[in-house]
Amino acid sequence: MEPRPGEALEVLVAEAAIRSRVGEMGRQITEDYRGRSLLMVGILRGCFVFMADLARAIDLPLAIDFMAISSYGASTRSSGVVRILKDLDEEVEGKHILVVEDIVDTGLTLSYIRGHLAGRGAASVAVSALLDKPSRRTAEVTVEYRGFQIPDAFVVGYGLDFDEHYRNLRDVCRLITPAEQVAR
Ligand code: IMP
Ligand code: MG
Repeated sequence: MEPRPGEALEVLVAEAAIRSRVGEMGRQITEDYRGRSLLMVGILRGCFVFMADLARAIDLPLAIDFMAISSYGASTRSSGVVRILKDLDEEVEGKHILVVEDIVDTGLTLSYIRGHLAGRGAASVAVSALLDKPSRRTAEVTVEYRGFQIPDAFVVGYGLDFDEHYRNLRDVCRLITPAEQVAR
């Protein structure tokens, strides 16, 4: 796909590497949850490609559901205050939850979601994330299944967007803008 005028893309994690890593993650999760069933909870919207592939790499009975979250803005974001835009339709109580996130950046979103689900009586909560940018972490959060650790770059593709663009790229690409100024 051609970048938009003034923007450039540089492949950071190629399609084949993603496919092989997601396969490994699925096998690991299958092993770890053997004999149980899962409720996969995707965090919209960036999760949608990763979740479709990961779900098919897991050989267990599972259900899927989604949550949508928004931060209140730059100032409250740093306090970890997030707002639930779309809550789960499924009951959480007694279920083994696997949260599916595209990327962990500051960790604020995930630490909020972890607490929220645990407080609703889930039997267990684990997190899977395709990408991890540990250099920007401000909230300590455990990520049980992580695909790739990446440097502090703004990335798009395989579900991730900039301004709702590039979600349908097959590779994860670094987005380069003239000013290197990308709103987060
Ligand atoms: P945080 O971990 O609470 O800072 O937020 C993580 C969320 O920010 C992710 O779910 C993405 O929606 C978004 N995000 C963080 N880094 C990137 C990036 O490099 N590209 C696209 N979205 C990102
Ligand atoms: Mg997201």
